[in-house]
Amino acid sequence: MPDFKNYIGGRWVDAKGGGAIERGNPATGAMIGSFPKSGREDVVAAVEAASAAFDSWRRYPAPKRGEILYRVGQLMMEHKEQLGREMTEEMGKVLTEAKGDVQEGIDMAFYMGGEGRRMFGQTVPAELPNKWAMSVRKPLGVVAAITPWNFPMAIPTWKIMPALVAGNTVVLKPASYTPRMAVRLVEIFEEAGLPKGVLNLVIGSGQDAGEVLLQHPDVALISFTGSTETGTHINVEAAKSLKRVSLELGGKNAIIVMDDADVDLAVEGIVWSAFGTSGQRCTAASRVIADRKVADEITQKIADRAEAMRLGDGLDASTDVGPVVSKSQLDRVQSYIVIGQQEGADLAVGGRVADWGDLSKGHFHQPTVFGNVKPDMRIAQEEIFGPVTAVIPVDGLEQAIDVANNVKYGLSASIYTQDVNRAFRAMQELYTGICYINAGTIGAEIQLPFGGTKSTGNGHREAGQAALDVVTEWQAIYVDYSGRLQRAQIDDVPNVG
Ligand code: UN1
Repeated sequence: MPDFKNYIGGRWVDAKGGGAIERGNPATGAMIGSFPKSGREDVVAAVEAASAAFDSWRRYPAPKRGEILYRVGQLMMEHKEQLGREMTEEMGKVLTEAKGDVQEGIDMAFYMGGEGRRMFGQTVPAELPNKWAMSVRKPLGVVAAITPWNFPMAIPTWKIMPALVAGNTVVLKPASYTPRMAVRLVEIFEEAGLPKGVLNLVIGSGQDAGEVLLQHPDVALISFTGSTETGTHINVEAAKSLKRVSLELGGKNAIIVMDDADVDLAVEGIVWSAFGTSGQRCTAASRVIADRKVADEITQKIADRAEAMRLGDGLDASTDVGPVVSKSQLDRVQSYIVIGQQEGADLAVGGRVADWGDLSKGHFHQPTVFGNVKPDMRIAQEEIFGPVTAVIPVDGLEQAIDVANNVKYGLSASIYTQDVNRAFRAMQELYTGICYINAGTIGAEIQLPFGGTKSTGNGHREAGQAALDVVTEWQAIYVDYSGRLQRAQIDDVPNVG
């Protein structure tokens, strides 16, 4: 079985404690590899390497830092097929989606590579003569990127690339389910010529490795994507040392379908958003809020589509839905099926663990649709993170928007309508970080901010220009070239010239 290592200070090294994490393919059970089980010493060494590299990296011109990202993007393009295959093996999503995940990383590489020559500050008028006023972005120092398994390539790039182009150094701790993809990404950075120590990789659990990053005084920012529970813990702990924290947490995203909508188009969007990546996206549509006039038709149509979906290994071109990532995730999905039935929702289709034939080797769950769901049921309020969606009938737009907003999360929302007034009302009233009109809830592009309101995060955004706000500090600079003391807010302005 292949043996993978940490990457610290530009060297591939074993965990000091010598422990290992083993990871198998969630579709077939075949072993993928053995990975270091890092602990305190490994994490401390990675932070020290990143700290040591910081001064020379922040002084390396930003356009040159950007050029390394361009090379990374180029290499990712060249290896896209192979990276996609390895991702499918490691976490299960179907190959086309795995390649899309890699593509999202490529997009980020070129977008952030460009920031090396942009990274705008402001130049503004000064209130006194012969004085210059401007602002520039400064890096923070060592950034800890703690990344999830559902987008094993895209999300690490969202966190690493803005940090690097802005002049920070990074310690990456990927989810224990997807360490191989993190190794592959770091190998590409190495091949692209990133100086030693600028990006470090430690593989291990949240308790053993993540916690050390959280407590380390030399870590300036924790950028985390994952559960609300862990995110809250990070926020509380990081406050004690005033670390910056950027959190990307849960979602309970809704697709609203109005009675004037193109129903078949809406069904396409729902099926794609609810069952793509086996529902394991923060942006997945786990609620469908349908006007009562079309709710039964929609429930029936998505149930028919769900029933026809083929479960299987994501490397098989005929597979529509891959496995969920692990046995514990499968158990979690199953527990919500039981909850939904106990709450009195109609199970329109699915609901079972798929354990027949070859599927028994992996962690498969049938795509599942609940009908006649009430907005306050747990299946309509809590994030499930699996191939399950709940159709909630409502009366009209106002109620639809109320129901959409009435959850603790606020990541993505969508509306299907052909009425431009309704579309604009929805854009105005939906309190989410991402809003779609006549499209599903998934598929955000990297040049716009990504993130959500309320318990989805702590007010930060990834991607787009907003990503730079997370990884930089502003410095305001005043240059007085008058040759005399000028007192702002106090001196009268003398006649100039
Ligand atoms: C996630 O699930 O955390 O918008 C990220 C989307 C993808 C990213 C999802 N571009 O669905």
